[in-house]
Amino acid sequence: MREPLRLNEGIDSWNTAIFLYRSALKEVGTKVEILNDEFQQVHQYNPIEYVKSRVKSPESIVKKLRRRGYESTIGNMITYVNDIAGIRIVCSFTSDIYRLAEMIGKQNDLKVISIKDYIKHPKESGYKSYHMLVTVPIFLTDRVIDTKVEIQIRTMAMDFWASLEHKIYYKFEGNAPEYISRDLRECSSIVSMLDAKMLQLNDAILEARVAQIE
Ligand code: GTP
Ligand code: MG
Repeated sequence: MREPLRLNEGIDSWNTAIFLYRSALKEVGTKVEILNDEFQQVHQYNPIEYVKSRVKSPESIVKKLRRRGYESTIGNMITYVNDIAGIRIVCSFTSDIYRLAEMIGKQNDLKVISIKDYIKHPKESGYKSYHMLVTVPIFLTDRVIDTKVEIQIRTMAMDFWASLEHKIYYKFEGNAPEYISRDLRECSSIVSMLDAKMLQLNDAILEARVAQIE
């Protein structure tokens, strides 16, 4: 097999780039689906509640490049915008997040470029999620191209928080009044508490079930 090319080598058209990102989302989406199905088979348990994926809109790509002081070129977008292909995996419990991340990390056709653990180290805003930037090889007729995908893994409670915070952020264009930011941070700790409680409860239920069988 020929060495895969990186996406910023030899891709000069918008359509080719977007085609690659879409394909990368399909590849990673299938991997995640298979992991979930296998989990269901082996453990009679689905770690994933739902998965959402999207290709970033041209407007958002241009906005992000501009914000960072880069010209809007195909080369810059491929090099500097890491979340053109994005997949969000929403799990029931925090433990599922780490289990999934580990399983994804072990797939040796994927390359893990970076990991940001905003669960162990939440953002200033209170944002929590586990982020992985990976590349997946896309096999074209005459070459193989490693294509970037941003994977966000979070619990339902974290997702609930993030979507509300996102709306508020846009509403105030990033300058939310301090009391709102403070309340959001407070909600973020409630989310952590809820996640911890739910996990405890789930463990207790599992133990009770095992005790019943024995
Ligand atoms: P972006 O330029 O925002 O993509 O940041 P980055 O390249 O430093 O990556 P980071 O891992 O910090 O964030 C990537 C993505 O995580 C964002 O596009 C959002 O989807 C999500 N995210 C990060 N911070 C926040 C936050 O404070 N609130 C919400 N709601 N989402 C966030
Ligand atoms: Mg982003």
